[in-house]
Amino acid sequence: MTTLLEHYLTLVARTLVGTIYDDPPLPAMGQTRFDPRARELGWDWPSVAFTMVGAHRLANVRHLLESVIRDGVPGDFVETGVWRGGASIMARAVLFAHGVTDRRVILCDSFEGLPPPDPERYPADAGATFHLHAALAVSEETVRHNFSRFDLLDDQVVFLKGWFKDTMPRVPSETIAVLRLDGDLYESTIDPLNALYDRIPRGGYVIVDDYHAVPTSKEAVHDFLSARGEAPAMVMIEGGGAYFRK
Ligand SMILES: C[S@@+](CC[C@H](N)C(=O)[O-])C[C@H]1O[C@@H](n2cnc3c(N)ncnc32)[C@H](O)[C@@H]1O
Repeated sequence: MTTLLEHYLTLVARTLVGTIYDDPPLPAMGQTRFDPRARELGWDWPSVAFTMVGAHRLANVRHLLESVIRDGVPGDFVETGVWRGGASIMARAVLFAHGVTDRRVILCDSFEGLPPPDPERYPADAGATFHLHAALAVSEETVRHNFSRFDLLDDQVVFLKGWFKDTMPRVPSETIAVLRLDGDLYESTIDPLNALYDRIPRGGYVIVDDYHAVPTSKEAVHDFLSARGEAPAMVMIEGGGAYFRK
């Protein structure tokens, strides 16, 4: 029998990805009609739904948070790159559903879209055009409103606005159980790793949303890990993301 918790989290997830109301995609990725398979895999940009990560990567947020709760791995959920907030709303819903009051969801974003590439510091980002996509700029006010639509905006949700290169040292979590990297660029992947990796305890997770979709993001993760002499087993998430456990 489906439990109330299962039913609630399934309903939240379907609403967040837009499969409950067949939300059509934005034209940015070439599609024009709602395609349930694309939405499952996170291969389109929804026109009104709350996340572009798709059903599988949203389920992964739930499963990894439930894993750290079950295993007693301490710390917050931190997402670097939130867009409309959907993956972080899922994280807050999971904490709510499990009655967890001692972990927070930290949302880091410019709330103005991506920065232009800085090829002098990060040659891998040369030629990137993400900053030209107006659809990637979603204001903090809109994301706060999105949380409140789910009745999930409270003091366990913290917003940190600004460019990662400036804000990462100010992430207000001493301990991070799940770090979700979703900033697309090499810079936007490695800056959070440099600043936050040491705050993840053994048994915590790092999720790399763009592992397959954006080669520079994968490159940043492996450059960071090789510099540390680490080679954790990467677990693939259907549709393009990956994660590893520390
Ligand atoms: C692909 S979207 C995130 C998708 C989101 N996780 C979801 O659930 O749909 C990328 C986000 O990262 C943010 N971003 C990327 N690089 C950044 C940086 N260096 N500093 C601040 N924000 C950044 C953008 O503003 C954008 O909101």
